[in-house]
Amino acid sequence: MAQQEDLFKKVVSHCKEYGFVFPSSEIYDGLGAVYDYGQLGSELKNNIKRYWWEAMTLLQENVVGIDSAIFMHPTIWKASGHVDAFNDPLIDNKDSKKRYRADVLIEDHLAKIDDKIAKEIAKAAKRFGESFDEAQFRATNARVLEYQAKRDALHSRFAQALNEGNLDELRQIILDNEIVCPISGTRNWTEVRQFNLMFSTEMGSTADGAMKVYLRPETAQGIFVNYLNVQKTGRMKIPFGIAQIGKAFRNEIVARQFIFRMREFEQMELQFFVRPGEELRWFDYWKQLRLRWHLALGLGKQKYRYHDHEKLAHYANAATDIEFEMPFGFKEVEGIHSRTDFDLKRHEEFSGKKLQYFDPELGESYVPYVVETSIGVDRMFLSLMCGAYDEEALEGGDSRVVLHLPAALAPIKLAVLPLVRKDGLDEQARQIYNDLRFDFNCAIDEKDSIGKRYRRQDAIGTPYCITVDHQTLEDGTVTLRHRDTMQQERIAIDALSSTISAAVSMKTLLKKI
Ligand code: GAP
Repeated sequence: MAQQEDLFKKVVSHCKEYGFVFPSSEIYDGLGAVYDYGQLGSELKNNIKRYWWEAMTLLQENVVGIDSAIFMHPTIWKASGHVDAFNDPLIDNKDSKKRYRADVLIEDHLAKIDDKIAKEIAKAAKRFGESFDEAQFRATNARVLEYQAKRDALHSRFAQALNEGNLDELRQIILDNEIVCPISGTRNWTEVRQFNLMFSTEMGSTADGAMKVYLRPETAQGIFVNYLNVQKTGRMKIPFGIAQIGKAFRNEIVARQFIFRMREFEQMELQFFVRPGEELRWFDYWKQLRLRWHLALGLGKQKYRYHDHEKLAHYANAATDIEFEMPFGFKEVEGIHSRTDFDLKRHEEFSGKKLQYFDPELGESYVPYVVETSIGVDRMFLSLMCGAYDEEALEGGDSRVVLHLPAALAPIKLAVLPLVRKDGLDEQARQIYNDLRFDFNCAIDEKDSIGKRYRRQDAIGTPYCITVDHQTLEDGTVTLRHRDTMQQERIAIDALSSTISAAVSMKTLLKKI
């Protein structure tokens, strides 16, 4: 655990040290849960977005993209339920004066019980070795059974309280389970209160009567209110999807864990419009496909899992998360929701406009059902950084920090390194750099020893380095070094563009999905 916390701290400082992520407004001591992406971070972020966008709009015949405004008519948020129901249940500890989400405190407590069970199993597995039968152990070991029963009871009580929106019961669960404030260590809790997460501002001058508008808390509503525009102008036939990438804003109270929970963040959302009654089949389709998109990145299958929702959001009839194993546990990176016809029906009601689709095959009109996939760009970024970060011991007692980023997402694909800055090697290197920069993102680095330069590129995840040496001038070849294996091979300058392009291209990554 301590090791994992340590890893997280290292990833956070690595992000800052190498220009991936900076705290916002840092010279003014920062702004809570708001971050800026630096020179390498913005490249990585753009590549993540491109990977998603192309997987949706290029690989799916019936998905198109839009870019809707952040400001929208305020009634949209009334219709979507966000004005009334986009709340977090908050509780304060009177001693530490710290504010928590009541549901998160209980979830953390559940996770502690899970840890206890996992420890018992790990101990037994060690004791029994090869002959260990986990299923049998879980079914018979008294201590595990006791923990499991406790967990199940707490879990169903918690799920019921959430579903009923019963705030008193949430507080009672915290008291009954003797959950303490992590800062003060006391159980001196206030009541649980609901807190709306939307930011608002005013549009227009006050003299004219300004209108209260919200900064969108999700991009999805911009798709819903444009669905007929896109369907009609694009002559789309159901089933079809609309994809969008854009900023979203939430006044998160318990903002923590770096870019995991931010107040300004970016979402990549797809709304997929289907015939009523076919939504659960499509839900399953997208659930599988989205996991394949993650797995294609090669960070390891064991790092991902599904988490089916206990409490369904007010609009959903099925929901699951794709979780990634962050250093602080498995956490949601993407949500897949079967949103029924809730949103479109509500927009019909609140706008007074018909939002029906005429299905030529069925010869009837209906309000489509919607399956949504929604992933946070920043969380995806964090999962990549955590999954890719590695400290490797090398021969001779040396070590290196390396980011094993998927090549297609790496900010820089190739570093061109002249062995020395003389004898024409630097000019030759610049010539290669000038030629290849049209194909992919290149860097040229002439300072320090070659070893130091390799380390610098490893630390930012550059998949390839080439070294221009004296032999280059004689036979037109360079040394190509591979980041992950550190192996080197001799390659003709003429072959560089095609060899590296193939390895770092988005196409290669997209084909793995
Ligand atoms: N339209 C559905 C929707 O917004 P959500 O589960 O609230 O669903 C979807 O959010 C995704 O957006 C999450 O899986 C997460 O990756 C990202 N996300 C949500 N809140 C976030 C925050 N405060 N900071 C960073 N990412 C966030």
